[in-house]
Amino acid sequence: MKPLLPLTLLTLGAHASCPRPVLKALTAAYVSAQTVGNHSFISTLGRSAPNFLYIENNAVLGDLSLSSLAVPIKPDFHRSIHDVEQCASVTEIIAATQEHPYVLHTRIIWQATPDNLAVSGISLIEAVVTDEGDWLFNATGTLNLNAGEKWDPIPVAQQESRAEIQLLGDWYFDRFGDVERGDVPWHAEPCYRLEGGLPARGTKRGEDCIHVMPASIRVPYRRYVVDEEMGAVDVFMGFPGLDRTQGQREMPDSHLFRVEGGKVRYCHTVSACVTAGCGIGEIDWPDRR
Ligand SMILES: *[C@@H]1O[C@H](CO)[C@@H](O)[C@H](O)[C@H]1NC(C)=O
Ligand SMILES: *[C@@H]1O[C@H](CO)[C@@H](O)[C@H](O)[C@H]1NC(C)=O
Repeated sequence: MKPLLPLTLLTLGAHASCPRPVLKALTAAYVSAQTVGNHSFISTLGRSAPNFLYIENNAVLGDLSLSSLAVPIKPDFHRSIHDVEQCASVTEIIAATQEHPYVLHTRIIWQATPDNLAVSGISLIEAVVTDEGDWLFNATGTLNLNAGEKWDPIPVAQQESRAEIQLLGDWYFDRFGDVERGDVPWHAEPCYRLEGGLPARGTKRGEDCIHVMPASIRVPYRRYVVDEEMGAVDVFMGFPGLDRTQGQREMPDSHLFRVEGGKVRYCHTVSACVTAGCGIGEIDWPDRR
């Protein structure tokens, strides 16, 4: 494993609240730590924040040695988005080829020092960790479909504002509860959302792609991370209703959207069932970790 960055190197520019290069170094360090299952990196940064909280699939875990951070998860692919304004990041990890495959989205809120000159710790980590038995889980499928996608940085002149990007994420979830909201504008290519490891295909209609959705599901508890350079918003939320035995209980869920020119290009979802099966029929799911 590459040595992790000493904290003293993580000096921030005097004016920005959390410059992109600093956040990038930190998410790279997080990925290195997760690859070998070394939770000390996080423990150390967490201890220096007074109210550090680690949440995995909606459960607060006090002892990181019992969390997925202590499990080696070797990415076949990873991507991070960085929110300079909120000093936050989301990392998507696809581990398809190891014995126990995983796909996870991890949201981290980094804590800046009071003078905004350095990152002093981590206030929150929230991970949606999916593996076999979770909603449409297929790490190989995720890896293959992701390989055909292009998430290059958006040229400065074409970058959209935080509000414009976030709007598309909200539109998607608002539409689940209100048909009057209208169809989410979506590019005709590739016209799917990568839901778990399956392409949930929309219907091409002229220049657009229309996704059929229910209109009776209210999606609450939305937390956003926005990256203008990547044209990306990740929404962590509670997705209700899929577990019929539990009524309206919400699932831990993250949707990562790539927005280009006011329309969604890609959407990647991870949804942890917590109780096995998410109510998808009578299936014998393997034991949960
Ligand atoms: C785990 O990470 C810490 C830094 O946070 C480092 O000091 C330690 O050497 C690492 N351990 C391993 C086995 O990589
Ligand atoms: C997972 O996806 C791969 C690649 O698309 C496919 O070959 C495989 O059949 C899928 N597995 C399941 C269990 O659906």
